[in-house]
Amino acid sequence: DWTMAEYRQTKIADIRQQVGKGKVICGLSGGVDSAVAAVLIHEAIGDQLTCVFVDHGLMRKGEAEQVVSLFRNSYNIPLVHVNAETLFLSGLKGVDDPEAKRKFIGKTFIDVFEEEAKKIGGADFLAQGTLYPDVIESVSFTGGPSVTIKSHHNVGGLPERMNMKLVEPLRELFKDEVRELGRELGLPDAFVGRHPFPGPGLAIRIPGEVSKEKCDILRKADAIYLEEIRNAGLYDAIWQAFAVLLPVRTVGVMGDHRTYESVCALRAVTSTDGMTADIFPFDPHFLARVATRIVNEVQGINRVVYDYTSKPPGTIEWE
Ligand code: XMP
Repeated sequence: DWTMAEYRQTKIADIRQQVGKGKVICGLSGGVDSAVAAVLIHEAIGDQLTCVFVDHGLMRKGEAEQVVSLFRNSYNIPLVHVNAETLFLSGLKGVDDPEAKRKFIGKTFIDVFEEEAKKIGGADFLAQGTLYPDVIESVSFTGGPSVTIKSHHNVGGLPERMNMKLVEPLRELFKDEVRELGRELGLPDAFVGRHPFPGPGLAIRIPGEVSKEKCDILRKADAIYLEEIRNAGLYDAIWQAFAVLLPVRTVGVMGDHRTYESVCALRAVTSTDGMTADIFPFDPHFLARVATRIVNEVQGINRVVYDYTSKPPGTIEWE
């Protein structure tokens, strides 16, 4: 049996051993995992680490700013912030298949990385916040034939051409353990306690083709939903809560005129590791309040539904 303080020291020794005097580049996704990995690696090797935050424009409201300020101002960790929104959104044009979206985003991430790595004079290692459940879910169904459920964009190795080795200090950990390690490393509670957010971001919460307009609509709805969840004191009781923008329009009525706009689905689940999940049983009045606010405040949405599917058979994300 080990404690998180011991794990931290062991991993620091491992990282030093693996990296030597090499340079490490770490991709920040905006989420907790890559942030914890980066802080741990920085503690081990200091300024041999450079973080690169590839901002794909598929982040939630205010998220990019939060990450940049945490790293630059609180930790003083060298951080390159790449605004690649146009690159990602133009490449996603016309793409509606979930796996095609994931693959494009994963590949483009690596392309941008490679370019940034060159700019800082090359790196020998790439650090990632891969967790244990990512490793097993991407590989196969246990006991069944080898089937990829979803290609997680932060797993699967790197193209040979990059010629970098992987540093993945969280590979043995589950989410709750990563949070514990984050606290152990002094990351703020509010940051460590944040709900997981997938690498491909809002792209997999917009079934069908993704566009800037749709991302903007979804960001607004999602922010209202999360604000209400926080105000109700429910945030920490939920593993993940988010809005999904459906490629379906329905008829509604507002004031004295007819509307014909998109449907927004709300999802909230409880889970301990993301591998199985139960729906969060909100009070119907709470959901009604959120629905009213979203329809009133977000232009482009005129109907809100709640997703009652557990995992399995559903997955947490819609794509
Ligand atoms: P699913 O949708 O497979 O998600 O039930 C399980 C957990 O993994 C997150 N997720 C991802 N995380 N890259 C990530 O870093 C990804 O490509 C990705 N896809 C899903 C999801 O948000 C949930 O917490």
